[in-house]
Amino acid sequence: MACFLASAFLLVLQTYAAPTELVQAGFGITLDSMDLDPGLPVDVSGDVPSSPPPGTSKRAPHSIIIGVRKGGTRALLEMLDIHPEVAAAATEVHFFDWDENYAKGFEWYRDLMPYSYPNQITVEKTPGYFTSALAPERICAMNSSIKLLLILRDPSERVISDYTQVYFNRLENHKPVQAIENLLVRNGALNIRYKAIQRSLYDVHMRNWLRHFPLEQIHIVDGDALIRDPLPELQKVERFLNLPPRIVSSNFYFNQTKGFYCIRSDGRERCLHESKGRPHPAVNSTVLQQLRTYLQEHNRTFFRLVKRTFDWQ
Ligand code: A3P
Repeated sequence: MACFLASAFLLVLQTYAAPTELVQAGFGITLDSMDLDPGLPVDVSGDVPSSPPPGTSKRAPHSIIIGVRKGGTRALLEMLDIHPEVAAAATEVHFFDWDENYAKGFEWYRDLMPYSYPNQITVEKTPGYFTSALAPERICAMNSSIKLLLILRDPSERVISDYTQVYFNRLENHKPVQAIENLLVRNGALNIRYKAIQRSLYDVHMRNWLRHFPLEQIHIVDGDALIRDPLPELQKVERFLNLPPRIVSSNFYFNQTKGFYCIRSDGRERCLHESKGRPHPAVNSTVLQQLRTYLQEHNRTFFRLVKRTFDWQ
């Protein structure tokens, strides 16, 4: 009820309306926009045991990584899972779960979570939430005081990462692929209907979340900083989630071959799946500049909304 009233009130105040092309049917997430993580490693702690360890139970998520797709959501979840008081979910939530179950309460959501000990918090990631028209309202209805994590990286870099993921998925499925410039440009102008660009309009999507949640409830992780040096970003997340500081520098080591930080915990070393941290295609410099120029105004609006700036080109 609180969510509904707050959002109705804010709707009256807001003059802005999201472009209709961003407001998709149903839950607002198409299969195409879901990060299905086909090669997801199975070693996240939420791996469901056949019988639950004594003293554990399933609980609704205390925190959700809401996106953004290709922002570094997998790295963030796996790095947070180093913390002994975090139980990370192995699966993501799908739009059809919501559509099928929304009217029945939220037990189904809890059932998707891993078994956790009473001193742990459960965290899941569903990268499609951030750009979904209906997700903020629905998550607010589930738990209006939930702590949200949003990991963002340079939005033009995110477009290229998004393209790269779809490119490889299509190759795997023997579907035809196109050069990125063919998708970025239509009739000589930037193709602003390209979904990868629309997902990088952070201001548009953030406004939708701020209709339902106060800014203080959404912690933004700098995805570019997380790539360069994960620890400081993880320490900020620990503080936001009121977790005792347990993640330390020895939990990370730089892997030269992968070109990214990897994780050391519980006596094991592991890097993210090979689908994370793939080389990006070189993009025609004129087209790239067009993309950056288009995103600049949206970025400025986003900075005003979140009262913070980022070092984006
Ligand atoms: P690229 O593969 O385009 O480089 P998500 O998990 O949300 O799909 O995000 C994937 C992105 O996470 C990768 O995009 C990569 O840049 C980023 N990333 C951040 N930290 C990483 C790490 N330690 N290992 C691999 N990828 C990481």
